[in-house]
Amino acid sequence: MTATYLYCEYKPGLEGIPAAKSGISYVDGKQGILEYRGIRIEELAAKSSFLETAYLLIWDKLPTKEELTEFETDILYHRRIKYRIRDMMKCFPETGHPMDALQTSAAALGLFYSRRALDNPDYIRQAVVRLLAKIPTMIAAFHQMREGNDPIQPNDELDYASNFLYMLTERKPHPLAAKIFDVCLTLHAEHTINASTFSAMVTASTLTDPYAVVASAVGTLAGPLHGGANEEVLLMLEEIGSVENVRPFIEKCVANKQKIMGFGHRVYKVKDPRATILQNLAEQLFEEMGHDDYYDLALELEKVVEEQLGSKGIYPNVDFYSGLVYRKLGIPTDLFTPIFAIARVAGWLAHWKEQLGVNRIFRPTQIYTGVHNAPYIPIAER
Ligand code: ACO
Repeated sequence: MTATYLYCEYKPGLEGIPAAKSGISYVDGKQGILEYRGIRIEELAAKSSFLETAYLLIWDKLPTKEELTEFETDILYHRRIKYRIRDMMKCFPETGHPMDALQTSAAALGLFYSRRALDNPDYIRQAVVRLLAKIPTMIAAFHQMREGNDPIQPNDELDYASNFLYMLTERKPHPLAAKIFDVCLTLHAEHTINASTFSAMVTASTLTDPYAVVASAVGTLAGPLHGGANEEVLLMLEEIGSVENVRPFIEKCVANKQKIMGFGHRVYKVKDPRATILQNLAEQLFEEMGHDDYYDLALELEKVVEEQLGSKGIYPNVDFYSGLVYRKLGIPTDLFTPIFAIARVAGWLAHWKEQLGVNRIFRPTQIYTGVHNAPYIPIAER
């Protein structure tokens, strides 16, 4: 499937082709290492918070106490969405997928905040704050409205993670649930040039506004081969139903060359380090809030897939255990990918900011496989 074109080789999916230089994150797929700005993901998951990690990714430094407090306060202040955005969202079909609702409402922010000053650090900061602040509110508002309820206003007493869970359920979450949810956001915040980040970078390279950058990335994240896989994992566990059914299900998938959701990764050829952290979090959550039978199913699935496909480097990815955590937190399955987007906004915006500093519009080439000098056939003769 490869062909030589001029002086470089064509690689479907651009596999292994560097498309940018970046100092934001680093993945070693053979050793299972992930670093944000040089700091190992295990350390950030244990010691940082999502908003501190977002600050680190975007501004390339850990904030001081004052800087972090100011950032958190700004985000808290901007959590509310305009009535006109809420009214617009009320018109969305309640059967629509929340990722489509999110993509539409993220793009709509550009209508309301249309000033564009990409060379002004204050503008960059304000766009970062608005997007991080408002995206969780928009997701929760859509969820409430499709259920026939009014959106729940953000609660200023609650931190970022707790407030999102509160807006979804109208209950203040258990502190462990909020803490674990915050770690989930940290784990999903950034991952080099994956498909949605590349989308964000291509869009950013045209010097459009940051809301369009995020909206294009949300559209890319929605697909089942990318962020949509966490939702597919739960649907698959539902379909399998019991531990005894795992082996025949996997054997059938392998025989039919069918992809098993939540497994495999373009870069990792060992277990994704985020999957390991998420598995530990899931265990903590089950200990505190009660066992989930799907966890037994998931363990058996991991064992059988490793047996059958481990030699090909197919191991659990980040999406495999995240769904189990979100299910235990009472989050509906179709909100799993929007939650991924809440986190990944941090990475997209870090790449947006980095891209603006060294911008050259993305314009790759192609290998033309069509014909030349084709005749135009009049419609009556076709
Ligand atoms: N189940 C079964 N076999 C798999 C899987 C899987 N999940 N993933 C890869 N393989 C097999 C392929 O069939 C292929 O086998 P072959 O060489 O015999 O033809 C080989 O492993 C290589 O797979 P590719 O699809 O070429 O790998 P690629 O790097 O293009 O794809 C991807 C990576 C898209 C993530 C893939 O593993 C996949 O579709 N996984 C399931 C969906 C998923 O979980 N996506 C989430 C990824 S993480 C994220 O986006 C946040």
